Amino acid sequence: MPLKTKLTELLGIEHPIILAPMGGVSGGALAASVTRAGGFGLIGAGYGDPAWIEHEFAAAGNTPVGIGFITWSLAKQPQLLDLALARKPRTVMLSFGDAEPFARKVKDSGAILICQIQNVKDAKTVARLGADIVVAQGTEAGGHGAGRATFTLVPAVVDAVSPVPVVAAGGIADGRGLAASLMLGAVGALIGTRFSASQESLTHPNLKKRIVESDGDSTTRTKVFDTVRGYTWPHPYDGRAIRNDFLERWNGNDAGLQATMATEGPRYKDAAAQGDTNTMVMFAGENIDLIHDLPPAADIVARISKDAETLLSRPPGLR
Ligand SMILES: Cc1cc2nc3c(=O)[nH]c(=O)nc-3n(C[C@H](O)[C@H](O)[C@H](O)COP(=O)(O)O)c2cc1C
Repeated sequence: MPLKTKLTELLGIEHPIILAPMGGVSGGALAASVTRAGGFGLIGAGYGDPAWIEHEFAAAGNTPVGIGFITWSLAKQPQLLDLALARKPRTVMLSFGDAEPFARKVKDSGAILICQIQNVKDAKTVARLGADIVVAQGTEAGGHGAGRATFTLVPAVVDAVSPVPVVAAGGIADGRGLAASLMLGAVGALIGTRFSASQESLTHPNLKKRIVESDGDSTTRTKVFDTVRGYTWPHPYDGRAIRNDFLERWNGNDAGLQATMATEGPRYKDAAAQGDTNTMVMFAGENIDLIHDLPPAADIVARISKDAETLLSRPPGLR
């Protein structure tokens, strides 16, 4: 039984799976692979390099993809939205910040507006702004986010914004996660870390290896990698990453890190450029317990959707 939902209808796709727009990870090749496999791929605009965005749209070729922006960063260079809309993305996703200045323009372009939020209040706000899809992101997620857990946030957001469709994000890496999301009332899952550990992702090979080798206990939320990279994220966001020496040294001592930036900044940059996993940021979610291989993205889409179909027809915990 194929998993037909409001999401598959809205996007005209086969499986209710969206590739998260992970900055520096979700390039055009990965996004196109996910779409071709029957899900939907989003390029991650990250902090917004116009040449990179152009390059990744070109890498997706004629396959329909979307793009996701970090909203507070987009506010500093709003012309990037025009650049993206000129490429006619099927969807535009806005995360982390005030969507209001951009919502109208996205919708007027004909693109589907997806807004990712981390609490019920923001869910109601983006629904009011006309979001076509609300992504409820729990704290288990890799990369930036906030404090609420997926398991309770998703049904609360479903209740709060009905009939606007809600997609679950944070902690979903296999068929169990997708099946659970649908049972919570979501119409699909937006998946990041699982696709970061795929062949097509732009993730550094050393980090791919660490994702496969590490478990969820080894991730934590932190601000140190924002501070050392010079990104001023607004409250309440921080990022979930795999612990390493750099994180252990500076976590909770932002003032100390700020005070030594003249030496720590360049040292970090060099180490990260060399793929030094003792130092570089390794954004990943708690679900790395469930990730044991580095397959092509199409295999991930096929496995997750097939397993979810099986589980939903016969939940394994039922007698
Ligand atoms: C490496 C990485 C980078 C991310 N970068 C972004 C980003 O640039 N913009 C964004 O909206 N979300 C970003 N996210 C968060 C995702 O949108 C999504 O919420 C998250 O990956 C879902 O949780 P999961 O990693 O457990 O699947 C990132 C996540 C990861 C793992």
